[in-house]
Amino acid sequence: MTTLEKILRPELMEIPPYNTGLGLNEVRSRYGITVVAKLSSNENPTGPAPQVLKRLSRASSELHLYPSSEAQLLRKSLAQRLDVSEKQIIFGNGSEELISIICRSAVNPGDQVVTLFPSFPLHEDYTKLMGGSVERLAINENLQIDLAKLMERAAQPAKLLIFANPMNPSGSWLNPEQLGQLFEAKHPETLLVLDEAYHEYAVHGDYASGLDLTKLIKGHWIVLRTFSKSWGLAGLRIGFGVCSSTELRQALDRTRTPFNVNHLAQIAAEAALDYEDYMLHSVQQTILQRKHLAKELRSRGYQVGESIGNFLFVNIDRSSVKFAEDLLKLGTIVKPWLQPSYDSFLRVSIGTPAENEKFLADLAQVESS
Ligand SMILES: Cc1ncc(COP(=O)(O)O)c(C=O)c1O
Repeated sequence: MTTLEKILRPELMEIPPYNTGLGLNEVRSRYGITVVAKLSSNENPTGPAPQVLKRLSRASSELHLYPSSEAQLLRKSLAQRLDVSEKQIIFGNGSEELISIICRSAVNPGDQVVTLFPSFPLHEDYTKLMGGSVERLAINENLQIDLAKLMERAAQPAKLLIFANPMNPSGSWLNPEQLGQLFEAKHPETLLVLDEAYHEYAVHGDYASGLDLTKLIKGHWIVLRTFSKSWGLAGLRIGFGVCSSTELRQALDRTRTPFNVNHLAQIAAEAALDYEDYMLHSVQQTILQRKHLAKELRSRGYQVGESIGNFLFVNIDRSSVKFAEDLLKLGTIVKPWLQPSYDSFLRVSIGTPAENEKFLADLAQVESS
């Protein structure tokens, strides 16, 4: 064992590096391409409302001050909007930080954490970091959630039951009736973490937020949301969780750093809520584009999961890493899925119409080469 291995916790070595992929500028400089379609991280290509940017520039005179540790103003507007108590809300440096905070607060070595598979990798990674053991419930061959399997497992105790609805990467989801059944089936000792990162896209489908059905849940729960997707603020890093009780929120608060959400993120999120129509319009555009892209890909013979998120999960029937690398060289960035059994899939975010057309053209070029 090396000295470094003796110093570091062994769990660290079991976690694969997070697959963030390349950014716009890296692709431009590495491949000498000017027009790049970035369809790899499920961002909103429209960005936030222009009024949000104005508020941000006004806030730049306040950068010498620490942010509000409690995100007080944002907390107030959000609580009113969601009809929950201000005391139930916890903010994170992106909702990914909240996943980390939950795992660090709850998971002991050997604890069982149940999730869907394929999964958002951080649901698994933070569990493993704490020495917890991940139990994966695979989706079916139509890339849909296996409700019976999920209900059966949910009835047995686990430390956490954590999954995204709609789920990432497949975009599949539980409809309101299924979600209600799952809530009723959940073991009362299991903490349910429902990740609703794609909520604003999903409300246009046969979907309900967990927040509308919390009366059915026995025991503790947390619903996670983010400003990174539909609200167009991924670069500022802000997400939040609504907890079943003040006690749970206060306990989680002890795990976060006191100033975990920066001032500009708080200002931008609060301003974004004031201009919801802008967000809703961009969501509508994305949904139209998603339908168009899915139809086109299916007509070319690809298996494409039914998705209510801002992304599609596409089976290209060969190694996705090589295929994604070939697309990169043409200026299209997509995410090759790396988890076992799904490494022939690409996850493709829905971009602007021009980006989506570029993806389709580049796809045809890679196919024919
Ligand atoms: C399901 C899911 N949860 C959480 C996140 C993290 O989002 P953020 O940390 O930007 O809020 C993502 C990002 O892709 C996601 O897909």
